[in-house]
Amino acid sequence: MYKHALVVGGHGTIGQIMVANLNKLLNPPIVTVANRQSHHAQLAQTADVIFFTVKPQDFSAAATATKPGISNQLIISLMAGVSTTTLVQQLNNQRVIRAMPNLPAKIGLGMTVWTATTASTTTDKEFVQALFRLMGQQLEVMNDQMIDQATAVSASGPAYLFLLAEQLLQAASYIGLPADQARLLVTETLRGASTLLADSAASPASIRAQVTSTGGTTAAAITTLPLAELQQYWNTAIMAAYQRAKELSH
Ligand SMILES: NC(=O)c1ccc[n+]([C@@H]2O[C@H](COP(=O)([O-])OP(=O)(O)OC[C@H]3O[C@@H](n4cnc5c(N)ncnc54)[C@H](OP(=O)(O)O)[C@@H]3O)[C@@H](O)[C@H]2O)c1
Repeated sequence: MYKHALVVGGHGTIGQIMVANLNKLLNPPIVTVANRQSHHAQLAQTADVIFFTVKPQDFSAAATATKPGISNQLIISLMAGVSTTTLVQQLNNQRVIRAMPNLPAKIGLGMTVWTATTASTTTDKEFVQALFRLMGQQLEVMNDQMIDQATAVSASGPAYLFLLAEQLLQAASYIGLPADQARLLVTETLRGASTLLADSAASPASIRAQVTSTGGTTAAAITTLPLAELQQYWNTAIMAAYQRAKELSH
């Protein structure tokens, strides 16, 4: 297994999540963080796995600074929009894993989707699986296209549910619930419903049917919603996120 990890951009949001989980996984943990002022190449020379958690627009500078210290170490990128091909070319290294986490990784409930080049070893893959399991669930996919699709669904996904929460809070206030009580009701309902769904093999439609009796309150709400149109809006929204992920990918 790996002894020494370098996290380029380790003081950022995703970087800190990686550092915290590497400290749990490595035994003993040796985790170095590179900030803008660091001597990246020097730090890279002694590391056997190097993470990139900078913003995509900062990757080129970070790659140029790190490249002289890279000699076939495992590279793991958590950056949106930087393709596996670009990572391999700019770092001149074949052993690359590209991963896309989401924000709940911060509390160990993330969904991380990743893809590995053929030069990555079984040990490399076992290492990232163990690491990403500490952050929640993980899924290996075949290629960058599936990373872009996952970006539209799971990486951007928490924001869609925050939007639903915002709108339910507004609606709760509209029918007269105090804001603090509405927040508790909405957030705990989202938590409970998503846990129930995650723990069940049934489809969301069938669980919804179980809690929707004919002539009841849930049916009264749902029959007012234009479900087919709503589905169209979601298709358009998720497609827009996927297209944007492809546009940003270089
Ligand atoms: N946040 C999310 O929910 C999320 C989810 C999935 C993927 N991602 C991906 O994760 C990456 C980082 O996002 P973030 O939200 O964590 O950004 P962030 O909080 O801004 O963190 C990026 C860090 O990189 C540092 N940095 C910039 N250039 C550097 C360099 N040359 N060498 C070393 N460090 C450098 C920044 O330092 P300064 O403070 O000096 O700028 C900052 O501390 C992005 O590519 C994003 O697409 C984020």
